[in-house]
Amino acid sequence: MPSEKPTRLEMNVNGVNRTVSADPRTPVLEVLREEFGLRGTKYGCGEGECGACTIIADGQTICACLATCGSLAEAEVTTVEGLENDPAGVRLFNSFIDNGAVQCGFCTPGFVVSAWGLLTSAKKTDADSIRDALGGNLCRCTGYTKIIEAVADAGSQQVLSPLSSRMGSVTADVCMPQRYWRPRTLAQLFSENARFAIEARFIAGGTDLMVQNEHHLGDLPLIDISSMPELSGIDETEQQVRIGATTTWSEIRYSSIVGEHFPLLSLAAAEIGGIQIQNRATIGGNIVNASPAADGLPALYVYKAEIELVSAEGRRTVPICDFITGPGRTGLRGGEMVSAVLLAKTGTAGRVV
Ligand code: FES
Ligand code: FES
Repeated sequence: MPSEKPTRLEMNVNGVNRTVSADPRTPVLEVLREEFGLRGTKYGCGEGECGACTIIADGQTICACLATCGSLAEAEVTTVEGLENDPAGVRLFNSFIDNGAVQCGFCTPGFVVSAWGLLTSAKKTDADSIRDALGGNLCRCTGYTKIIEAVADAGSQQVLSPLSSRMGSVTADVCMPQRYWRPRTLAQLFSENARFAIEARFIAGGTDLMVQNEHHLGDLPLIDISSMPELSGIDETEQQVRIGATTTWSEIRYSSIVGEHFPLLSLAAAEIGGIQIQNRATIGGNIVNASPAADGLPALYVYKAEIELVSAEGRRTVPICDFITGPGRTGLRGGEMVSAVLLAKTGTAGRVV
């Protein structure tokens, strides 16, 4: 009989090691608010649209409503409360007050955390960069002008934050029998997969799966592939570029390799949701979801991408035009997953002029 016992998960929240017993499929937003009492992080839409739930996980802003707490086990998590002693956080708090950028205040924590992401990165803080950085945050009181002024004031000099270099290190797999499993390597996945439900879905960023399942993952058995180094990263040879399936759209957007050889893909990456979604959503997820509205797919068709698939039986590659067979349909076989996207270098093809 599968065990229904919650799993014991550890994460570092605002500099303190915390433990929680929870179903690993629970959105981390629920854990932060209900288990840890950190209610500065808000629930707005539950779909990655409003940014009210923005937190920092391992130095990057993400939507807490779409991230499972299992995927953040051993991560370094910072909420708006954790910014009260942070140089960039304090500067932003003061600037929002001084500029009158707070009305009802519901959206404010999310805006502050997103603005923190901009101020602590090496990117510019001009008006266009601020709008881009805050593109995943909505203010129902429509205080955008004041909010942008507040961030511009706070961002007149780049601020160093000790939080931006924090990175949790994944050393253990997370498992709730027959419900959720986060293996660390492909070898572990394929050698031990008999212990898990055959109908389990793979999850990486979860930005589509959480929404498709009405904001909670219910009883869906999940195998979390987000912590496998061999599925992530961008590599090149003389002939081609290989993008691992769990590479995020942020990594693709700012990759110099992608920018040089496949500029349309860089542009597409910048159009995928807000920064919090780009930091979490993966190219493999976008392909497997096979949505007619997927922002990343047209560029992959233009570049005649090959999809690399892996299973316990081995690897194969399929052209993207054959792999996606219709809206929401692919040629994925049972037990198989997308492991990478292969793009052939073809000189000037796809140059943006
Ligand atoms: Fe709206 Fe998470 S609650 S993006
Ligand atoms: Fe009210 Fe933004 S200040 S929602």
